[in-house]
Amino acid sequence: MKKILLSILLVCAPALMMAERADFHVIPMPQSIQTDDSQVFTLQTGMGIAYDASDPEVARNVQFLRQWVEELTGVKLQLTPDDQKAPIRFVLGFPTDKKAKKVKKGQKPAELTEQQQEAYILTVDQSGLTIAARKPVGFFRAVQTIRKALPIKAVSSIELPFTTITDEPRFVYRGAMLDCARHYFSPDVIKQYLDMLALHGCNQLHWHLTEDQGWRFEVKALPELAKKGSVREKTVLGRNTGVYDGLPYGGYYTQAECRELVNYAAERYINIIPEIDLPGHMMGALHVFPNLGCTGGPYPVWPIWGVSRDVLCPGNPETLKFLKTVVGELCDVFPSKFIHIGGDECPKDRWKECPKCQAKIKELGLKEDGKHSLTDQLQTWVNHEMEQFLSERGRDMIGWDEVLEGGLTEGGIVMSWRGSQGGIEAAKQHHRVIMTPTSHCYIDYYQLKDAGAQPLGIGGYLPVSKVYSFEPQQPEALSEEEQKYILGAQVNLWTEYVAYPEHVFYMLLPRLDAISEVQWTQPAQKNYDNFRERLNHMFKLYDKLGIAYCHKVE
Ligand code: ACM
Ligand code: ZN
Repeated sequence: MKKILLSILLVCAPALMMAERADFHVIPMPQSIQTDDSQVFTLQTGMGIAYDASDPEVARNVQFLRQWVEELTGVKLQLTPDDQKAPIRFVLGFPTDKKAKKVKKGQKPAELTEQQQEAYILTVDQSGLTIAARKPVGFFRAVQTIRKALPIKAVSSIELPFTTITDEPRFVYRGAMLDCARHYFSPDVIKQYLDMLALHGCNQLHWHLTEDQGWRFEVKALPELAKKGSVREKTVLGRNTGVYDGLPYGGYYTQAECRELVNYAAERYINIIPEIDLPGHMMGALHVFPNLGCTGGPYPVWPIWGVSRDVLCPGNPETLKFLKTVVGELCDVFPSKFIHIGGDECPKDRWKECPKCQAKIKELGLKEDGKHSLTDQLQTWVNHEMEQFLSERGRDMIGWDEVLEGGLTEGGIVMSWRGSQGGIEAAKQHHRVIMTPTSHCYIDYYQLKDAGAQPLGIGGYLPVSKVYSFEPQQPEALSEEEQKYILGAQVNLWTEYVAYPEHVFYMLLPRLDAISEVQWTQPAQKNYDNFRERLNHMFKLYDKLGIAYCHKVE
């Protein structure tokens, strides 16, 4: 009897389910969206998707659509690549581009910007759903928009209101940083982080891999480096209380794991920028190679938080050899055009006392110039050596804004973190800039006023609304021409106080939503109250995906 009842229920269930409507007003908000809610196209199980199956990149994006529609709604679409009449169509190329080419016959077509290459046009009309993209990356962006527009509920069918979306990102660089050195997060967690970035239209993961508290990148030529440099014997409890947990803590990424993550990211149109922070923040390496420090050590992998005064000794020729070995292997593993060499918070106390460093300053002929100290110039010499090394490998160097202090060479990119001023100065000097000031982008800060209502953090207060208000191009300080040097913005998640994956995502979300609209959407389309309403749907999506987030928004 029970079995019969169950069978009846199963047969009737689809009929009991309702049709639900999609809403294309997603986060980040598309550039142009026209919707006619009075007419809908209804998406149902069994409907086919037409696409060019000979292109595996296109096919992968079609699979993403099929997977996500089923995951969120239960509606199962079919792959019907050759069906010209299929109601869902992936079309490579914009009709408007073809027209533009015809008009300018004989002339060279204008080069597309990177943002234009990411563009897509999404149309819903009586014939169905059409996604047009110039490149497969545009399909991915469109499919993410559809994913965020879907009802999150088992439904019999999905009503798509008649819509035309024309969309492309505002900034070429849309990133987030994750510090995996203070705490190690498994490759699976990095994949989840990448998934969240992709959901929000980000295209850069800045991966902070080395620190005073641990070295997490395998270097084959120096096998002891990650093996020993990744392990601290203990970790301080709370904010440098002097009380320790007494537990060894470690973990590092093999080159095979890094390569797998690079590929995983690339399938989601995210570039991974690795960072080896040098010449400061190096206690992990100094523990293994104490001869590379000015005093000779011994040095522990640091069990406390803060900035160590022990840093690499640039007076020792072995130091540059070490750095080039490490960064050489980094370039082998990460195809990124941008490589981050850190350069922040490098105290010069040891260099001032060190005979080798002082001899190097003499050898290089560094002179007091009234602007930059001799030791600042010594750091600049290290930066330039690394920039040259990277440039020979076809890479561009990114450094934290301290790299400006001794003068930056032409190709260097500044990551402005101590406010926006470093970025403003760099842009005025015609250096490319990534904006990530503590004031608007440091998501290790608390996001609620009531610190006690959140897990212990480093301090500060950066609510969602403040992240949302950020304007990376600084129009008050920069001319239109200078603003072009601002490549974009990113949020930074330092993890001294963030040890577990749930906490990572609690800190990230929903501040990533806010920065995504800074990165993607033109200022004229931004509206905080409207964003706040759209956020409710993202919360449902995070619930469905089982991702932690901060439920309260300030
Ligand atoms: C930094 O926050 N030390 C770049
Ligand atoms: Zn030295």
